[in-house]
Amino acid sequence: MSAPWSPESWRTKPVAQMPQYPDEAELAVVLERIKRYPPLVFAGEARRLKAALAAAAEGRAFVLQGGDCAESFADLTANVIRDSFRVLLQMAVVLTYGGQVPVVKIGRMAGQFAKPRSAETETIDGVTLPAYRGDNINGAEFTAQARRPDPARMERGYFHAASTLNLLRAFAQGGYADLHEVHRWNLGFVERSPAAERYRDLADRLDQTLAFMAACGLTSDTTPQIRETDFYVSHEALLLPFEQAMTRIDSTSGDWYCTSAHLLWIGERTRQHDHAHVEFLRGVKNPIGIKCGPSMQPDDVLRLLDILNPQNEPGRITLISRMGADAISARLPPLVRAVAREGRKVVWLTDPMHGNTVKASNGYKTRRFEAILTEVRGFFDVHEAEGTWPGGVHIEMTGQDVTECLGGSRPVTEASLAARYHTFCDPRLNAEQALELAFLVADELRSRRGADRSRRVAAQ
Ligand code: PEP
Ligand code: CO
Repeated sequence: MSAPWSPESWRTKPVAQMPQYPDEAELAVVLERIKRYPPLVFAGEARRLKAALAAAAEGRAFVLQGGDCAESFADLTANVIRDSFRVLLQMAVVLTYGGQVPVVKIGRMAGQFAKPRSAETETIDGVTLPAYRGDNINGAEFTAQARRPDPARMERGYFHAASTLNLLRAFAQGGYADLHEVHRWNLGFVERSPAAERYRDLADRLDQTLAFMAACGLTSDTTPQIRETDFYVSHEALLLPFEQAMTRIDSTSGDWYCTSAHLLWIGERTRQHDHAHVEFLRGVKNPIGIKCGPSMQPDDVLRLLDILNPQNEPGRITLISRMGADAISARLPPLVRAVAREGRKVVWLTDPMHGNTVKASNGYKTRRFEAILTEVRGFFDVHEAEGTWPGGVHIEMTGQDVTECLGGSRPVTEASLAARYHTFCDPRLNAEQALELAFLVADELRSRRGADRSRRVAAQ
């Protein structure tokens, strides 16, 4: 029997990575207001995502999750949102067409504000201030004023998320995502890259397929799957007072849902089984992600699955491995094996970003594109060897032409990192690198299908 749960039962547990608000009364007033604001997502949408993830858990779909490491309030513009959205659409088309699987699209968007930090404070020139924890907690600027946790930022975060989500819904359903637009999704600055050329070629073939389908009577007017797409949002459920205020009972099912996003994940630093973040997510019915770093042991995963998914419901849990290119072949197999041995239904995603963060010689926090690709390949190899389904990828990317990760076919070099290094937290793939990664993943999926097919033939 598990202990009773309520949206605030997490408050009785030890909690990591939580800001200390200097003014409790001010915090309470803001939270009371947020509690009364409309939900950002609906329970029915979260259930629909869970069903899509259940298909991925069973090897019938592939998940693409991507967006900023940390969204910033300053980046709330139509162009920034559109550009991230269209790179995700491009990647999804590459994966669907190339890999021949349905793709579940999730943006790390519309709420990815709060960040776990490795140190509580930051010291510059002898001055020590609280670390920056994300735009819905404090400001990035290195002043005492900006770094003070401010509850009003939570409310701004709510409205930023609402506004982002509003545009994403319009893009997904209002004609922008129509498959007839595939050529238009190619971004100007990506146009001359080898990945863009491959993409154009694919888009030409897709046009021919659509023309054939139209001749058969399947058009945007008759077939909503051509005209629009399902697009979901996710973020790390780190700032629990905010997440609690967004948690409501769904009138249809009578269950609790956290209505700040469709999918919420627990980070590598807040996944202690007896701590507050696990306690909070245990009681909401949304699909849940869990980051699994190199220190994760098979028993840790199984214990988390017992707590977070006692009914073993497929689609409820997505395990996001982030081992690092060098560690994945040793660290991932014991986890995959333990989960399979116990018959637990999960989606396995690879996050090839967080285990591959390095410091460039000029001090920039960066990631090598080659290491990212190596981890992705390692992920496919592990699942091939274990006979399990590689369920998807989770990446930090942007639709902007940034220079944050080293390499790619028109390589970002150490010297060029400074040119357009704009991230507020971790380095992201730019649009071109993200597209290149999608082609690699599509190739892996295709060869995996080929191998599965020949295995089936051989077994006959
Ligand atoms: C992240 O996804 O940005 C993150 C902080 O991940 P992790 O918890 O795996 O370090
Ligand atoms: Co990150």
